[in-house]
Amino acid sequence: MGRRHLRGMRHLAASSLANIQLVAVCDLNQDNATFVADEARELLGLRPRVYADIAVMAREFGADLQAASITTDVAAHHTIAIACLEAGLHVMCEKPLALTLRACDVIADAARRAGRVVSVAENYRRDPINRLARALIGDGAIGEPRLMVETHIGGRDRIAITPWRHMKHSGTIAVDAGVHYADILRFYLGEVRAISGEARIQEKVRYNTGSAGPGGFYGRWSADFPDSIEPTGEDALYAQLVFSNGAIGHWIDDNAGHGLPTRVRQVFGSRASLECPGDRNGRPLVLHLDDGTHIADAAILDYAPSYRLAPLAAELFGGERVWSYSLEFNDTDSRLLALEYHELGACVATGAQPEVTLEEGRRDLALTYAPFESGVLGRPVTLDEVLSGAASEYQTEIDARLGLA
Ligand SMILES: NC(=O)c1ccc[n+]([C@@H]2O[C@H](COP(=O)([O-])OP(=O)(O)OC[C@H]3O[C@@H](n4cnc5c(N)ncnc54)[C@H](O)[C@@H]3O)[C@@H](O)[C@H]2O)c1
Repeated sequence: MGRRHLRGMRHLAASSLANIQLVAVCDLNQDNATFVADEARELLGLRPRVYADIAVMAREFGADLQAASITTDVAAHHTIAIACLEAGLHVMCEKPLALTLRACDVIADAARRAGRVVSVAENYRRDPINRLARALIGDGAIGEPRLMVETHIGGRDRIAITPWRHMKHSGTIAVDAGVHYADILRFYLGEVRAISGEARIQEKVRYNTGSAGPGGFYGRWSADFPDSIEPTGEDALYAQLVFSNGAIGHWIDDNAGHGLPTRVRQVFGSRASLECPGDRNGRPLVLHLDDGTHIADAAILDYAPSYRLAPLAAELFGGERVWSYSLEFNDTDSRLLALEYHELGACVATGAQPEVTLEEGRRDLALTYAPFESGVLGRPVTLDEVLSGAASEYQTEIDARLGLA
């Protein structure tokens, strides 16, 4: 993901609103650090200095280093975030904020002590199509929202991107991918009150297909993954939600689906429904009215008078009221990452809070773990129970491993 972030920085640097500079990379694996630093020189024109230790990096730069962006695997997020905050740095952390709710809490404590900003890099909601969808719902295009269906099924028995995404103690794919959709559910319809669900390990053995992963960025590493692994972490979650506004959510994130890969995002209201194309593809939303009309062109904007992209998003995606765009996946991906970096730079400069704050990231993770906790307890759980730790049975073992029990 660090490689993808470099491309986001390149887009930001080339924009009229450039406000950050990459001066250092830090990775325990020095091969990876030098590889990324070399790539940064090609993409950004300046080779960042290479480190393996955050405290040393922060000391050498002093006040010239203001923020750190964490793109490591999830189990390390909280220790790295705390080290950065204690070194006086603002932090942007890839999703999920941390591996467990308790790990989020220790980051929150460190952020309070340090008085620094923590931003969670949740990119899906920044897609202009998701911005438009939210505006349509908020502006009443479908009437009162009643039901949201969020379904992703596919993946079979392949190793999903990296082996660590299949192990309970390093962040299962149902959490790693699921948290994006938890964020989208909350972004579209607001807070969730109660959750009933299950999480499963559907595939007992997974195989290395040598895939270069999303965007083709993992090829350098995937050849060295084992031929097969035995997952200890869940690859699928199934849940029914009740939103605070009374709407129902039906959510499946099944990364072990065979046969027809299936993706559905639809929101049904008291007057109409919204068919959503998913994330980072630029395809248009479709508004379905009761008289059989399907609106899937610029006319959809009439139903979202409040829709306006922020200036950088408008610059990168072709206008402040775009309703579709046509870009390659990696190009879309890096433009969204540019938006995250620009916001981080603005927060550092002005002291403003980011859109996806530490608390938002914590709530996204709570919603993701809610089906796990509900399944273990054999009953519905409230989001508050997961947030407070009252429903945390599933995570207890992970916390013990992390030394947070
Ligand atoms: N937003 C998205 O679309 C998206 C997509 C992919 C990954 N991600 C997120 O990005 C993060 C990284 O995922 P990835 O697939 O790139 O992981 P990865 O395993 O490919 O890379 C992790 C890197 O972190 C380094 N690292 C591990 N522990 C470290 C430590 N303590 N200090 C310094 N470096 C350390 C590793 O050496 C490795 O280079 C995860 O949080 C993941 O969820 C987000």
